[in-house]
Amino acid sequence: MDTADRSDAPVIVVLDGPAGTGKSTVSREIASRLGLSFLDTGAMYRAMTHWLLQHGVDVDDADAVALASVKPVIRSGTDASGPTITVDGRDVSGPIRGAAVTAAVSAVSAVPEVRTRLVELQRGSAEAAPRGIVAEGRDMGTVVFPRADLKVFLTASATTRAARRAAQLGVDDPAGIAEILADIERRDAADSGRATSPLAKAEDAVEVDTSEMAPDEVIEHILGLVRERVAAVPSR
Ligand code: DC
Repeated sequence: MDTADRSDAPVIVVLDGPAGTGKSTVSREIASRLGLSFLDTGAMYRAMTHWLLQHGVDVDDADAVALASVKPVIRSGTDASGPTITVDGRDVSGPIRGAAVTAAVSAVSAVPEVRTRLVELQRGSAEAAPRGIVAEGRDMGTVVFPRADLKVFLTASATTRAARRAAQLGVDDPAGIAEILADIERRDAADSGRATSPLAKAEDAVEVDTSEMAPDEVIEHILGLVRERVAAVPSR
């Protein structure tokens, strides 16, 4: 690929990493500052899970999930200033953050047919993005966009991530925090241990440990990486 090709191509920046690293906030802000589209792929797995639960599909029955997964019409609005997620035309941005979906989403996202379908939608979103996209998830750098212009892998210790999640939810009692930590560890194990597209750092990804960093520092650091490494840095 020569320089001329690169400058015309839409920019693709990907952020992968486990839950609670601040991926969503950071990715959205970076997209906004660079004038790029933004895609939260976890929201798509959550939207699929919500639809399956609503339609009485047993999420632990991989065959049933695979069969049903072709049915919901999932659409992601990728405007960084107001991303949206709909299923069959209905806004599901609230319910997909609920406990029922959070408990079931790891099982659903382990089903290969679900991944095939959502990966296709994710690539379609990138193709439709006028200037390029910032996409975040678990397998953006390894599977979905292996030729991304910049790959970042965000990490933070499980205890740091649990403390952040607890603060977001307003939970401050030790038992509540312990429960959040257990849930994070359970999801880490499920996401990293599944056979299809496990959570993994791409070989050419830059790892950023956010344990001791404020969100603004993470954003500035990644914007610095974009300036350093992306040939056609979007101006804005
Ligand atoms: O980022 P999140 O917590 O909203 O993601 C919800 C779940 O979706 C998470 O348990 C792992 C799964 N996921 C995935 O398997 N692949 C992605 N690209 C994004 C999320």
